[in-house]
Amino acid sequence: MTLTVIGTGFVGVVTAGVFASFGHTVYGLDVDEKKISKLQKGKVPFFEPKLDDLVKEQLKTKRLRFTTSYSDAISDSDVVFISVGTPSAPDGQADLKFVFAAAESLAPHLKEHAIVVIKSTVPPGTNGKVKQKIDALAKEKYYIASVPEFLREGSAVEDTFNPDRIVLGAKEQRVISTLSELHAPFHAPIISMSPESAQMTKYSANSFLATRITFINQIADLCEKNGADVMEVIKGIGGDDRIGSHYWYPGLGYGGSCFPKDVKELAAYSRSVGEANNLLNKISEFNEHRVYHLLDSYEQMIGGWDGKTVAVLGLSFKPNTDDTREAPSMKVIPHLLNKGATVNGFDPMVAAEQLPIEDKRYVQRATIEEAVKDADVIFILVEWPQITQFDFSKTRENKKQWLIDVRNQLAVHTVKDWGYEYRGVGR
Ligand code: UGA
Repeated sequence: MTLTVIGTGFVGVVTAGVFASFGHTVYGLDVDEKKISKLQKGKVPFFEPKLDDLVKEQLKTKRLRFTTSYSDAISDSDVVFISVGTPSAPDGQADLKFVFAAAESLAPHLKEHAIVVIKSTVPPGTNGKVKQKIDALAKEKYYIASVPEFLREGSAVEDTFNPDRIVLGAKEQRVISTLSELHAPFHAPIISMSPESAQMTKYSANSFLATRITFINQIADLCEKNGADVMEVIKGIGGDDRIGSHYWYPGLGYGGSCFPKDVKELAAYSRSVGEANNLLNKISEFNEHRVYHLLDSYEQMIGGWDGKTVAVLGLSFKPNTDDTREAPSMKVIPHLLNKGATVNGFDPMVAAEQLPIEDKRYVQRATIEEAVKDADVIFILVEWPQITQFDFSKTRENKKQWLIDVRNQLAVHTVKDWGYEYRGVGR
C-alpha cells in the first residue's frame, strides 16, 4: 500500500519508519520545511533510541520519503494518518487546530476510497468534525477512522514493533478489513470498535495509568507516616493478579507530554458534558501539588534550602529521552533557586540550552562528579542507568550530605554504608 503520515513528532516518524519497514511506500509529511529537510538527510530532529537507524535504513530502500507536498503524498495514498500535535487549549480541552489544518490540506488530494486515520489523541466526537472539514473540500468518496497509539517515548520503536494490542475504530467493515490487513504484521490482537470508543480507549488508558501512579504516590505518603515501605507494599498488593506489581512506582508525580495533558483534556471533556463531579477533575491537581508537598518536607528535613548546594541528577521527564516537558526538574530547580540554593544539574542527554533557566546560581555540569561536587543534597530525579549505577561512594565528601532518591532506585543500606543521609519516597 501507499501511506502518508502527517506530522513528524516521535509518533509520526516512528509510524512512518515502521510501516516502510513492512514494505509499504510511506510519505512522512510536515509543513515544517526545516524538519523535513533534516529528515530527508536521515537526521531525526529529537532523540529517540533506535529511530535514527530505522529512518536511515528505510530512506535507503527509497520506500520512506519525507516531503512538504500534500499533493505529491496524498494523491497516491491508500491510507493517510493524521499524527499532528493536539496541545491543550487554555480551558484544558484539546486544541484541534493542527488536526483541522491537516484535514483541510489533505482533502482536495484524496484518491477514491482512501482512508483517513486519526492517530492524534483527540476527544470522542472529533471524527465528525474532521469529516465536515474534509467533506467541504474532497472530490472523491473516502472513509474516516481512528487508530490510537500506545507507544512510550524512550522505547517508541520497540513498542511500535511489539504492540500488546491494536485498536481500530471505524464504522465500515471494509475499513476495518483494510486496516486489519495493514496491521497484520504486528501479530497483535486487533480490537475493532467505533471511532468514539477508540478515542475513549486512548484517553482512558492514559488516565487510568496516571490515576494508578497518583494512587500509589498517595499510599507512599501514608507509608512515610507509619514506617511502612511502599516498595514492600507494592510487592504485597501485586501478589493479587487483579492488581499486579507493574507500572506504579512512586515518585514526584507523572510528567511528560502525554499523561498531564491527556488527564486534563479528559477532565475538561467531562466538565463540558456536565460530569464535573468525577475523579478525573482531581487527579491533575494532586499530581501538580505533589512535587511542592515533597519539596517542603525535604526542606524541613535538611533545615532549609538557603545557602545549600544541591545536585539535581536527571533533567528529562524519564530515562532514554531528552524530552523535558513536565519533567520534575522543571519544577524542582526553579523552586530550589527561589529558596536560595545553588543548583548543579546533570543529564546524560538533555542539552543545557533546553532548560529555560537563567540564573547564575544554576549550572548544568557535564559529569555526575562535577554536579555532586560540594553538594549538601543530591537529588536523583530520573532513573537513568548512568545515574542509578553511579558509585556515589567515590564522591562522598567530609560533611553531612543527603541523597534523596525520588525513584527508589538505590538500596537504602548501600546509600547509608556510603555515609549519606538517605531519603526515598514512601519508605
Ligand atoms: C505514555 C503511555 O505510557 C503510553 O502508553 C502512551 O502511548 C503515551 O503516554 C502517549 O499517550 O503518547 P510516556 O508519556 O512516553 O507514555 O511515558 P511513561 O513511561 O508512561 O511515563 C509517564 C510518566 O509517568 C513519567 O513521568 C514517569 O516517570 C511516570 N511513571 C511511570 C511513574 O511515576 N511511575 C511508574 O510506575 C511509571
